[in-house]
Amino acid sequence: SQVYQVVVLGAGGVGKSCLTAQFVQGVWIESYDPTIEDSYTKQIPIDGRQCMLEILDTAGTEQFSSSESTPASCRSIGPTPTQTYQPTDTTTPIGHGFLLVFSITSKNSFNELKALRDTIIQIKGTDQVPMVIVGNKCDLAEERAVSRAHAFAVSHSWNKTHYYETSARSRLNIDQVFTDLCRQMLQA
Ligand code: GTP
Ligand code: MG
Repeated sequence: SQVYQVVVLGAGGVGKSCLTAQFVQGVWIESYDPTIEDSYTKQIPIDGRQCMLEILDTAGTEQFSSSESTPASCRSIGPTPTQTYQPTDTTTPIGHGFLLVFSITSKNSFNELKALRDTIIQIKGTDQVPMVIVGNKCDLAEERAVSRAHAFAVSHSWNKTHYYETSARSRLNIDQVFTDLCRQMLQA
């Protein structure tokens, strides 16, 4: 049966690997080990049926030198993870669904999502792409730099993209994010 590919994108250090580890393995990772690229598989029940996910945990977008024309993570939106991204490439993109992750403690990490979304839409050739916006680290309330209302409003203005606030640390809303994305992919 179908395996749905989920690509986890966002700036370095926002918690992409931690939330993936919480979802897939149910563990909390305190240390920070920047990702190159990792993939995981996980089956989740959606409305009584099993849905098989392949989750690609990418490298943070802000860690790339300006000499590199395209962030490595954008390649994983496109043809294959190792191929150089070409905007005009018409081969089938590998990602079926996308988690666009920022940290509620970093305005920059939120601002980076627009370019990521634009790239996904450009490569897919449609704005009807299964996608969820994730504001992670919501346990760090006193360090909040992006309001829930603002993140929600921007997400809503992007074709009513669903917005969740998560904490990989306390495992808040982690399953909900993947379940929502999975439902969108099943309907696509
Ligand atoms: P790159 O792989 O470099 O792109 O980073 P990443 O987005 O995968 O970040 P990672 O998951 O490695 O987390 C970076 C740091 O943030 C780690 O030290 C985590 O412990 C911390 N962190 C991640 N999620 C949370 C969270 O929900 N709450 C808090 N308080 N810390 C978090
Ligand atoms: Mg990582």
